[in-house]
Amino acid sequence: MTAGTPLSRRGSKLSDTSPMPEYIQAHFDRVDQEYSSASERYVGLAVAENKLVWDLLEPVINDPRDVPARAAGYDDMVGSEAFRTTLASFASEHIWGREVDASQVIALAGAGAVLELLFHVLGDPGDGVLVPTPSYAGFWMDIESRDGMVVVPVHSRAETGFTLSVADLQAAYDGADVPVRVLLLTNPVNPTGRILSTDEIRNAVAWARSVGVHIVINEIYALSTHGDTPFVPTGSVIDDVGDDMHFVWAFSKDFAMSGFRCGVMTSQNEDVRAAVSALAYWACVSGDTQHLLDTMLQDTEWLAGYLTGMRSRLRESYTRTTAALSAAGIPYIPADAALFLLCDFRQYLSEPTWDAEDALWRRILDEANVNLTPGSACHIAEPGFLRLCFAQEPPDVVEAAIARIARTLR
Ligand SMILES: Cc1ncc(COP(=O)(O)O)c(C=O)c1O
Repeated sequence: MTAGTPLSRRGSKLSDTSPMPEYIQAHFDRVDQEYSSASERYVGLAVAENKLVWDLLEPVINDPRDVPARAAGYDDMVGSEAFRTTLASFASEHIWGREVDASQVIALAGAGAVLELLFHVLGDPGDGVLVPTPSYAGFWMDIESRDGMVVVPVHSRAETGFTLSVADLQAAYDGADVPVRVLLLTNPVNPTGRILSTDEIRNAVAWARSVGVHIVINEIYALSTHGDTPFVPTGSVIDDVGDDMHFVWAFSKDFAMSGFRCGVMTSQNEDVRAAVSALAYWACVSGDTQHLLDTMLQDTEWLAGYLTGMRSRLRESYTRTTAALSAAGIPYIPADAALFLLCDFRQYLSEPTWDAEDALWRRILDEANVNLTPGSACHIAEPGFLRLCFAQEPPDVVEAAIARIARTLR
């Protein structure tokens, strides 16, 4: 910056903010480093990405393209009508568990963009959003960075298997020192890979309605199921989805295409859709990407094969990962969905503190050269849980990484 030409107050605040949590910075610092042997190479298991399916995607992504002239020009900023029509029919069948019309669908540049714009129109600066923990670390950025809203954590406990209870919701709501406007539910849950039960969903929605807050349902891992518990879409268990419920999904996880940046929302609430649409120009999905995703979703034969293949690879990786963890003496919380699970390192902490958790994360990074997501980043109520993303590397690499962690712990 040139001296004497200061940034705005909000610009200065943003420029002082670290753009990335330390565990993500550590990943990008190491991921391209060269190592003399595979046994020394850095293994990143801290970022929620599915790297097991590129060979299933590559043929349709790199197929000779047939981009129409229309995709090169301006179109509806919330997604072309053709794309939203395809999305509505795909997501009604596979994700939302109920029929949704294309007019109620909005596509933007990733789930993060959808959430940020959605919170922008649901609350004002200083208003609170209830976020159950353990939680996806990025919600703090989505909610607080530009929207200026405040995350109100709803802590659940390891003893209950981190289930979501009305008592915890009520306690967080009563204890909040800001007016709460929204409840954000993520299902399947990041970072536990749990699928919420029908009762948990029904009770949380009924409770949110009793206190009159909006309900945002983030189902970004809806299709990434690998266990025996089926995913239950919230729209299929709530009979009266109303103007207070807004649903989010994206291609980032279930289609392993986080770099393409396409998130999707649906809401019956016309005012919410109009307000989000007014901001969509700054977060739209490129015409080229819309065309590609539209083509992929319409190829029903490829789609069926992809979903089956993707799930069986997640299942294999999860099974081998959990076997390796058991052999290494590292307890974990069983998961049924998503790309990760929570490992319980509490017995390996020198004392039950966040400093001790940080020291353990650092030791695993420095000595084993393996990066896990610290539980502190997931705002877990107690120290000692680290998230392991088992889909970020092939199963044999994950197994080798767990063996290295075990050596470090010994
Ligand atoms: C629960 C959850 N929501 C949102 C996101 C952000 O997704 P996107 O890359 O589509 O912005 C993530 C990414 O990890 C996530 O886990």
